[in-house]
Amino acid sequence: GRMLPMLVMVALLLTGCGDPYLSALQPKGTVAGMQYDLIKLSVTIMLGVFTVVVVIFTYVLIRYRKRKGDNSIPEQIEGNHKLEIIWTVIPFILLIVLAIPMVSTTFTLAKDYSNDKDAIQVKVTGHQFWWEFEYPDLKINTAQELYIPVNKKAYLSLEAADVIHSFWVPALGGKKDTNPGMTNHMWLESTVEGTFQGRCAELCGPSHALMDFKVKVVSQEEFDKWVVEMTKGENAPAENKAVAVQGEEVFKQSCVSCHAVDGNGGKIGPDLTNFGNRQTVAGVLPNDKKHVAEWLKDPESVKPGNLMPNLKLNDDQVDALVEYLSSLKRQ
Ligand code: CUA
Repeated sequence: GRMLPMLVMVALLLTGCGDPYLSALQPKGTVAGMQYDLIKLSVTIMLGVFTVVVVIFTYVLIRYRKRKGDNSIPEQIEGNHKLEIIWTVIPFILLIVLAIPMVSTTFTLAKDYSNDKDAIQVKVTGHQFWWEFEYPDLKINTAQELYIPVNKKAYLSLEAADVIHSFWVPALGGKKDTNPGMTNHMWLESTVEGTFQGRCAELCGPSHALMDFKVKVVSQEEFDKWVVEMTKGENAPAENKAVAVQGEEVFKQSCVSCHAVDGNGGKIGPDLTNFGNRQTVAGVLPNDKKHVAEWLKDPESVKPGNLMPNLKLNDDQVDALVEYLSSLKRQ
């Protein structure tokens, strides 16, 4: 009776409760595709073995059940060479069938693309509780949204700034731990354009479950445009220029020691160069003025345990800062 709800639970967890872009069972990339093939193969073999065992078990239960007035013991099979060979050889063959694609996929996924000119190099750093994405060849440092071109390999070098995190984009592949003091590697390649949800998959503190990020898979032209915007682009005109200028002052007083814009500023918090273009604030709230204000007024209530202090800003300062941050829109 417990099996079915358990299976439903597992299925829901694997499919991410129906979100098509948070599902390892609906792969959208090369790596996720290979991993999905392995899942299918091993589940098929497991179901086959399970079915055979249940059928034999049921047959034996009925065939050799206790009958009234019959106290004889059925024929014993201990030492039966034929049977022993059969139940040794079959699992051996099944393990070989599993092992060959498993080992070959493992080697494919472990390939080193660090010197591949066609691969985008990205250094990924896990922080409590946000993700830093650095493109060393393109001189870009950004956060929370990883841009990659479609049908192109992204070779990721994964590190952590504080504790162990784990980088996982279910629809594209994964996952790989980010550890302080060492560098892990993995590659991803998406075969479709779109926005994919990423998660931290290693318990890392009070806001582990809120350590989300996005992967933006765009066409090569869009990617090139993004690179130009990030490196040479200018901010879009602010909706309310006078207020945005006040906000910039607040930013220079209170924020710049931890946050960079245009490559200027501290490195403790996420780089905010293209903050206005991002879908979320702090990875979890929709990026609109109301929610940016909510975050600035009390970061702790949004993401418990995060390093952003409550700056105790008054409403005018918050409004000005919101205007300024929203204006950090690259074009
Ligand atoms: Cu970072 Cu869990």
